[in-house]
Amino acid sequence: MPDLTTKYLGLTLANPLVHSASPLAKNLDSIRQMEDSGVGGIVLHSLFEEQINRDINELDEFLFQGTDAYAESLSYFPEPQEYQFGPDEYLEHIQKAKAAVKVPIIASLNGISTGGWIGYAKKMEQAGADALELNIYFIPTDPALAGSEVESTYAALVRDIKGSIGIPVAVKLSPFFSNMAHVARDLEAAGADALVLFNRFYQPDFDLEELEVIPKATLSAGGESQEFLLPLRWTAILYGKVECDLALTTGVHSAAEVLKGLMAGAKVTMMTSELLTNGIGRITEIMADLVNWMEEKEYESVRQMIGSMSQKSVPYPSVFERAHYMRALSSYRVG
Ligand SMILES: Cc1cc2nc3c(=O)[nH]c(=O)nc-3n(C[C@H](O)[C@H](O)[C@H](O)COP(=O)(O)O)c2cc1C
Repeated sequence: MPDLTTKYLGLTLANPLVHSASPLAKNLDSIRQMEDSGVGGIVLHSLFEEQINRDINELDEFLFQGTDAYAESLSYFPEPQEYQFGPDEYLEHIQKAKAAVKVPIIASLNGISTGGWIGYAKKMEQAGADALELNIYFIPTDPALAGSEVESTYAALVRDIKGSIGIPVAVKLSPFFSNMAHVARDLEAAGADALVLFNRFYQPDFDLEELEVIPKATLSAGGESQEFLLPLRWTAILYGKVECDLALTTGVHSAAEVLKGLMAGAKVTMMTSELLTNGIGRITEIMADLVNWMEEKEYESVRQMIGSMSQKSVPYPSVFERAHYMRALSSYRVG
């Protein structure tokens, strides 16, 4: 039996398959079922900055920059009763999850600006979370807001949170920066212990009958899905360029994506859509497939695979990327 253990955020995980934040983590039975199925770690669903700020009545200047319609903007958000967990219930849920299972529990804070709300990071630590995942999900739409300003706000947020707690912090972020590698270094310098690549953006559709925008959480696709290739590529590029851990999320549906993610350089690969679609039992099947593959190819450990197909040994990655792009286009044959 190969050694499946991996070290992520200073924690030793039994294997590299982690449940990424999803509604499955709202339910203690599902959390127990994930552990019984052999999951390596569990990220809880997020507690949002806006939920906390509603509680502490704090204005979020960054989010509302460029608008003088704070009250109106608030109406875009769900009403407090629509969240299954308020801030205090969330802390209780961490305690209950910790008492229910032995696998590491990573709490998730979802926000974009520094402020009083980050006091909840400390409360999450006190509630027993083994680590914190900070999801920075922000779509800048104000033309006056420079990319560099967005990036320094991210770094300031990470710095403030790191300064307020002792447990490790992972930062989940989007791929949309002019230089992802630079942002990764900045976040690492601000104290990030891991980067989670990447947030999946929910792209709302229009309802033509009601003439409304429909906010819909769509699931990623498995098989030949292209979505997985974006985090895969950036994991391979960043491995060796930053010292913090890398986690890969989006499009992991089978052992093949777990293996590719590890070879690109991820310490863990994360899964949501597959578990929501085909059930928590998929964890056991995927782990069995992973072990079979490793035994067949005579790999002794997960550690041995991590980063083996990264771009670390490529001396000029930008040239390599451009060359691959040109080869891909010129190799296409019409008809
Ligand atoms: C219904 C649903 C709820 C989610 N809730 C959260 C959340 O609370 N916090 C978070 O960081 N990510 C959340 N995600 C994103 C997932 O953790 C994951 O990053 C994303 O779905 C991509 O992974 P996948 O391809 O395995 O689904 C959610 C995704 C879905 C589909």
